[in-house]
Amino acid sequence: MNKQFYMNLAIELAKKGFLYTSPNPMVGAVCVKDGKIISTSYHYKFGEYHAERRCLMENINFIGAELYVNLEPCSHKGKTPPCTEIILEKGVKKVYIAHEDPNPKVKGIEVLREKGVDVEVGILREKAIELNQAFLCNIEKRRPYVTLKIATSLDGKIASYNGSSRGISSEEVLKYVHLLRAENDAILVGIGTVLMDNPELTVRLGGYKKRIRRVILDSNLRFPIESKLFNTRKKGEIIIFTSKDSNENKKHFLIDNGIDVREVGRNEEGGIDIKEVLSVLFKMGVGKLLVEGGSKIAASFLRSRNVDVFIQEIAINKILGGGYSYSNSLKITSVSNSEIIKKWKTFDLDDNIIIEGVINVYGYN
Ligand SMILES: NC(=O)c1ccc[n+]([C@@H]2O[C@H](COP(=O)([O-])OP(=O)(O)OC[C@H]3O[C@@H](n4cnc5c(N)ncnc54)[C@H](OP(=O)(O)O)[C@@H]3O)[C@@H](O)[C@H]2O)c1
Ligand SMILES: [Zn+2]
Repeated sequence: MNKQFYMNLAIELAKKGFLYTSPNPMVGAVCVKDGKIISTSYHYKFGEYHAERRCLMENINFIGAELYVNLEPCSHKGKTPPCTEIILEKGVKKVYIAHEDPNPKVKGIEVLREKGVDVEVGILREKAIELNQAFLCNIEKRRPYVTLKIATSLDGKIASYNGSSRGISSEEVLKYVHLLRAENDAILVGIGTVLMDNPELTVRLGGYKKRIRRVILDSNLRFPIESKLFNTRKKGEIIIFTSKDSNENKKHFLIDNGIDVREVGRNEEGGIDIKEVLSVLFKMGVGKLLVEGGSKIAASFLRSRNVDVFIQEIAINKILGGGYSYSNSLKITSVSNSEIIKKWKTFDLDDNIIIEGVINVYGYN
């Protein structure tokens, strides 16, 4: 077996942490001695041991072994002890790393080399970087990795002229949406969608349950207490971003009822300042955010250039005519300014075409 094979295995193992590690990266580790794999592991979940530690915790003689890991090992104490410590303690002689950790606190390569461990960096670099785009965005931008998802008719409308959007997506697409929610740490919508659709914004995937934060942008606290959101609340799980001048009594009522109400500034259009929202959410531990609309929120996120992944589910069998659009309010002067998506893939689900497009890429500089 060659180096690429072992690193590929580390990357595949890392993927097992997909739904659970954010805002930490997904990391896998493979330990090889005398041409045989003697231990493998991955980072299971945020707050738990890192892949390298888990891999080397086994009761095996690791002296002289080689370790493959898709990200530079940490060298500082976070929620768990530094991985460089156990690598040195167990006598690993060589560490293969796919790419460096851009977090300035991480100096794993330097520490290991100083202590005489041979380190080789760059095996399957591109593949490993692609795996951890959300984490790399978090480090570079100090904000969550943002996915904007919209469901449209064939003619690009997100709702009919009177605001009805129920039924645009088929059952299969709804399953896909719930999986997408589970991949994220929070879902965000505007108050317009809450008033119009009364969504619950929870993850419903058969027996699988994951509680994620539900976020609403609502400058004037129009949030209805008869909504499904209010009535399915759990303390601190629903976050409403509002302006400093919204109704004080309503604010206190909501806070007393377990809603996390945050006052932030307004943007030039008078809405809630998205940059500030993202910064607050990031400090709360949200590494991945799914924005689900509606039309004004989608346009605001695009305008503020805070969308990393753009997903459009097109119901190819439906036309909605003069309905709600997510792009009408964007002022684009020429076709050359209209391109946003860098890489994309498409697939079919029932009568829908799903387009997953990447707008920002991280970690290649
Ligand atoms: N097909 C889909 O994917 C999809 C998804 C969701 C919704 N929808 C449809 O979309 C329609 C609702 O769209 P909508 O445009 O009325 O509502 P929206 O985008 O959900 O909410 C817009 C409202 O949010 C508040 N807001 C606060 N900060 C904002 C900011 N920075 N940018 C934009 N808005 C901000 C504003 O109200 P305040 O000024 O009071 O704060 C604004 O009127 C419904 O018909 C719904 O069915 C479709
Ligand atoms: Zn570590």
